[in-house]
Amino acid sequence: MEAAPAVRPESQSEPPTPAVLTFATVDEAVEVLRRGGLVGFPTETVYGLGADARNPEALARLYKVKGRPATHPVIVHIAGKDELPQWARDIPDHARKLAAALWPGPLTLVLKRAEGVLDALTGGQDTIGLRVPAHPIAQALLQAFGSGLAAPSANRFGRLSPTEAAHVRADLGAEVDAILDGGPCEVGIESTIVDCSGEQPSILRPGRLTVAQLEAAAGVSMAVPGEAAPRAPGTLEKHYSPRAKVRLLKRTGMIEALTTHKGKRIAALGLEVAVPRLPAGLLIVEAAVAASYAHNLYANLRLLDAAGADLILVEMPPDTPAWAGVLDRLRRAASD
Ligand code: TXA
Ligand code: MG
Repeated sequence: MEAAPAVRPESQSEPPTPAVLTFATVDEAVEVLRRGGLVGFPTETVYGLGADARNPEALARLYKVKGRPATHPVIVHIAGKDELPQWARDIPDHARKLAAALWPGPLTLVLKRAEGVLDALTGGQDTIGLRVPAHPIAQALLQAFGSGLAAPSANRFGRLSPTEAAHVRADLGAEVDAILDGGPCEVGIESTIVDCSGEQPSILRPGRLTVAQLEAAAGVSMAVPGEAAPRAPGTLEKHYSPRAKVRLLKRTGMIEALTTHKGKRIAALGLEVAVPRLPAGLLIVEAAVAASYAHNLYANLRLLDAAGADLILVEMPPDTPAWAGVLDRLRRAASD
């Protein structure tokens, strides 16, 4: 009788072994972080690429893998608001109220940085961005690690943020040492950033939380960001972009564009009603509900990109407070 073959016959048709074969456990991820490695992990907004926020070599590698300029600060993720004093100083009352009401949650506070905080985290500014994520796996990771994790979104600089573990693997491949899989991110767009380093708080980046929610929690009104506000490079034009060109149009404009751009591979992200003359793979129709639209937004743009679109027509959502975060990302994706 012949010996059983050492290699299972079906393995010949299996795809080549990916660099990251399985998703990691929290314990493995903590090991990786302690060695100065990079871990992709889920938060309720988008997946983050985490590194030990006290380890300069780990941060240098994080910036290199992201392809991010050294002047761009990163958000430090902490397990709870009790850790604030380790990272921030002169915390104003309105920031404490925001933290008490909205953490854990999709909110980043920019505060004056505490002594000893590494320059690599702050882009050389005197402020630091801090956030307590609500996702149970992010919480488990932070608690087991026991310190802060610097974590930008786990995508290359300027591209769409990942909202599923598979997106992280596809974007960063072997350059991420471990990935924790927490399923699709609930919110789907990045956290709201509020600058609390000055007299009056101001919104640097809109997200799921509305101005009304923030003002109710802070007990003060939000200022329009001024000249002196800290730079928030997520607020660069041309950010959060798929490969295809994006145009943000009213419904009539979309239908017109279908005629004028004949010959281009056009895809559309519509609201409520199908866009005429587009094949199924190049058309996604979303309900006009801000929360579910945001939840699916990046995955939808990735799908249309992957379907080979060279132009994505996006139907303009309503200009109401609930849509502020979505509109902000769509405008950036559409800017040249
Ligand atoms: O939802 C999120 O915020 C995700 C998850 C992973 O937490 N993170 C995220 O990180 O979106 P990132 O690096 O892609 O965007 C962080 C934004 C950037 O626009 C950055 O400029 C701003 O936060 N930021 C961080 N620290 C800052 C600071 N000290 N002052 C001003 N802006 C800051
Ligand atoms: Mg980002």
